[in-house]
Amino acid sequence: MGIAENLARVQERIGAACSRAGREADTVELVAVSKGQPIEAVLLAFAAGQTAFGENYAQELHEKADALTEADWHFIGALQTNKAKIVVGHAALVHTCDRLALAQELSKRASGKNLTQRILLEVNVGREPQKGGALPEDLEGLCAAVRELEALRCEGLMCIPPAGEDPRPHFRSLRELRDRLGLRELSMGMSADFEVAIEEGATIVRVGTAIFGERPRRN
Ligand SMILES: Cc1ncc(COP(=O)(O)O)c(C=O)c1O
Repeated sequence: MGIAENLARVQERIGAACSRAGREADTVELVAVSKGQPIEAVLLAFAAGQTAFGENYAQELHEKADALTEADWHFIGALQTNKAKIVVGHAALVHTCDRLALAQELSKRASGKNLTQRILLEVNVGREPQKGGALPEDLEGLCAAVRELEALRCEGLMCIPPAGEDPRPHFRSLRELRDRLGLRELSMGMSADFEVAIEEGATIVRVGTAIFGERPRRN
């Protein structure tokens, strides 16, 4: 199947999950994860009506955002503080802010470009040592500190549950954290589990392989 057909199928599945959950289909934004995909694949998806794309590497995001300025580019990868400057001004939303030093750098760079950078705070819901994300108990303090930064707007939370575990309890705990902090967005759910994420309240799902197929190997 081609990219347009895959996209239509994913949208259909989003619609079905929304109706199971008693939600309107337009309450979930689909971010097509184009990491590792050539710009031609992105252009095909864009022509089929997809406007939001997700990238994991700062330089790749920058290059693709320059090649397709009409799209909304989302940064969803681990972000080194020294790469913040590459992302600010190119990413409509940074999903993976997980520490104060990174938030401060994003704010400084956004301020320098006279813009407000929209961000989500990434949460390490599975407490995995090798993964990014703030620990749940640190979130309230981080959120309060980030709210003091003038050029950032924190809109919600993001997570990647541990591979091989039932994602539902992790999605649920992210939703509870979001509610407690009074935020709006919940970025959760990938190709294997976006329907469960929608049932648990996702407002943004990040779907790659179900749209583009397997990613070409990165070398
Ligand atoms: C943070 C994040 N979200 C979503 C995806 C998309 O995953 P999938 O291709 O399983 O849909 C990826 C893929 O690398 C990712 O890193």
